[in-house]
Amino acid sequence: MQTMSSNEPLHNPEERDTWSLSSWRKYPAKQQPQWPDQADLEKSLRELREYSSIVVPEDVERLNMQLDEVACGNRFLLHGGDCVETFADATYEIVTKKLDLLVKLKRILEENLNIKCTTIGRIAGQYAKPRSNQIDEDGLPVFRGEMINGFQAESRTPDPKRLLQAYKYSSETLDHCKKYFSKESNKVASNEFFTSHEGLLLDYEEAGTRSINGSFYNLTSHYIWVGDRTRQVDHAHLEYVRGLKNPIGIKVGPTMLSDELIKVIKRLNSHEKKITLITRYGVANVENILPLHIDAVKSAGFTVIWSCDPCHGNTKVTQAGYKTRYSDQMLKELELTVKIHAAMGSRLGGIHLETTGENVTECNLSEDEEPTAYTTYCDPRLNYEEAIEITNKFACLYLSEGV
Ligand code: PEP
Ligand code: CO
Repeated sequence: MQTMSSNEPLHNPEERDTWSLSSWRKYPAKQQPQWPDQADLEKSLRELREYSSIVVPEDVERLNMQLDEVACGNRFLLHGGDCVETFADATYEIVTKKLDLLVKLKRILEENLNIKCTTIGRIAGQYAKPRSNQIDEDGLPVFRGEMINGFQAESRTPDPKRLLQAYKYSSETLDHCKKYFSKESNKVASNEFFTSHEGLLLDYEEAGTRSINGSFYNLTSHYIWVGDRTRQVDHAHLEYVRGLKNPIGIKVGPTMLSDELIKVIKRLNSHEKKITLITRYGVANVENILPLHIDAVKSAGFTVIWSCDPCHGNTKVTQAGYKTRYSDQMLKELELTVKIHAAMGSRLGGIHLETTGENVTECNLSEDEEPTAYTTYCDPRLNYEEAIEITNKFACLYLSEGV
């Protein structure tokens, strides 16, 4: 993994020395809730800081090593799971279905691509969502994930006690994952399975970060990503994650400029971390933007992991009013992404999918369709069959490009 030499200009020359666990507080932070009572928030945060960690640094470092292999082309990354988890999902049965699907997708990739595959679940902590609007279509404060408020109309006021619940359910979900992977048939995948969530709510992330032998680990998840709405170079989210030893993903959408992308990488590389650029341009934009981004990263001399999220750039609302996504568009974005990387001597190292083990009907809706099983609290997810079909087809086209 290439890092900056010390005489290259940093975003701000002072910053290498001035990072601290709370230095993000000096920067603007988007997408943070308005808590009704600051003292209640402080109380929850104090309690969180006392909790024992959910994951252990040794596992974070194991993931770092596996991501080094991904960056070298010797391993593939599968990142997938719910758009947003709910507390009610923290049961062994529901977690099992989610993991069954992820393990199945991992096997498809490994068998077809003949390469080892690391799986990172959007699981055991994915409880906070960035939102485009503050108010929903009924005039209520928007649902921001169960870490903050409730989905039901009467519970939309942010409640800091939910931070403690989120921590508890994350921990329980990870316990279910451990049980799942201790079963004979699943053991083989256990060393290659990790958890992740969007590092959105910075008070929570800070409270879940621990200093271990002088290094800072967010021990609520192995892997943290920064969303496309909060990845601004001068803002709090990048400031917070740049000091972590955890591997970091950055969502890269169609509004990211090439020079901005380089500034983002430089800012993160100041702490020598693995960066996954999770591109999610949308099928209509990928050909215009990805080549510029690949060129910019190459010219700047950085090694990153490129992953493709074909979901978030291809979300539409149907005439009947449901958010949906179409498998053919998702596959087309994947195909174009694979082809562009291959043509430019670059490599796609991973895919990022929103999936659920439940038998939902959320993707591939026709304009006037009234879906029979639309249960998502946020974005439409691929169900078991849709996810398998996309992954199989992706594996075929990846192979046909000879990468
Ligand atoms: C997500 O991954 O759920 C998400 C909101 O993505 P993005 O930041 O890419 O829009
Ligand atoms: Co989503």
